[in-house]
Amino acid sequence: MSARRVIGSEHIEDARQRGRIVFEILPGDIVTSLARETAVRIGMTLMDGPIEKPAHPVTDGNTALRRGLYRRSPKWVAPRAASATKARRLRKLALVGAGGVGANIAHLAANLDIADEIVLFDITPGVAEAAAMDLNHASGITGTRARCSGGQNLALVSGADVIVVTAGRARAPGMTRADLIDVNTRVIRSTADVIKTQAPDAIVIVVTNPLDEMTVEMLRATGFPRNRVLGMAGTLDSSRFRNALAVAANVTPADVSAIALGSHGDEMAPITSHARIKGRPLSVFLSEAQIATCVKDAITGGGQVVALKKTGSATVAPAHSSIELIDHIRGAKTGPVPVSVMLEGEFGITDVVLGVPAHLGAQGLVVVDEIKLTDSETTALHAAAEAIRARLGL
Ligand code: 2OP
Repeated sequence: MSARRVIGSEHIEDARQRGRIVFEILPGDIVTSLARETAVRIGMTLMDGPIEKPAHPVTDGNTALRRGLYRRSPKWVAPRAASATKARRLRKLALVGAGGVGANIAHLAANLDIADEIVLFDITPGVAEAAAMDLNHASGITGTRARCSGGQNLALVSGADVIVVTAGRARAPGMTRADLIDVNTRVIRSTADVIKTQAPDAIVIVVTNPLDEMTVEMLRATGFPRNRVLGMAGTLDSSRFRNALAVAANVTPADVSAIALGSHGDEMAPITSHARIKGRPLSVFLSEAQIATCVKDAITGGGQVVALKKTGSATVAPAHSSIELIDHIRGAKTGPVPVSVMLEGEFGITDVVLGVPAHLGAQGLVVVDEIKLTDSETTALHAAAEAIRARLGL
């Protein structure tokens, strides 16, 4: 049996200095009254443990080094970054639309050095060329091997293995994503015409709003199989949800796992039943009201940015979220990821594009991960499917 620990105020202060906001009290620990007072004074929560799942002690040199560097407990095992050893480098990444999202995707892709060639297209003269030139100018510092080019000719996408489509009108304050259906459907159709002839084997990631509806349009207009037409929304909505939960619980986002499914709009379904903070259910850290606020924050996050910017919508988070999908496609990351795909009976839904967890690979969609949802979450998913169908007049 291990010796009983006596927790004094110096332990509480030390943990606070190391960025901890929760101090784990293990069965048998003795906590001095001064330690309790100190915890109250400096805002440290004393929580009955064990908080984290017991980890198997790992004794390899790297883990030991990380433990030493970050001064974690001997039980702590560093989360390992997804191994990039099997990651495929893209030959050509094409970005249709060199506005805020497209340019940021290009920037991240160049910095991460994930493609030999990055091409940007934009209808506004000079915009794509300037973005590409700017990125190339940075390569003397970043050392990236990716060569960037840009222009106004959509045939630039020729031979790309992944094409991210961000082109189209963005929302103005007060607009819903659905208000963009007519104008952006035309953009998607003309883009699809070129993609299907110039890059017939490409995987297409749609970012243009309204996301789920435009992904349906891209599927129809290209005639591509469902595995090669994906919509980027779930990675973004999930990231917003995780951020909201982390802020509410006063933990770092890395301590939160949570996903948002459904539509990329009012019928979004942040999934609370699977969400965890430090491996525990949300209710351990947050009240019902706090959880409801986080759900609302995930749903309205994009609109909040639009309201502040007045012209245009979010750029950085959507770009990271697109890279997340590309990383799953090229094998740099594994496991299920929320993504909008055409459903063929999964979750009891057919013939509509909806955000669901799925495994991706070199050919795009591999398989939808039919996780068990609560009745209300399943109802929310079905309601989202109906709303998208109605907006498309199906
Ligand atoms: C968003 O939610 C652009 O729809 C995107 O910010």
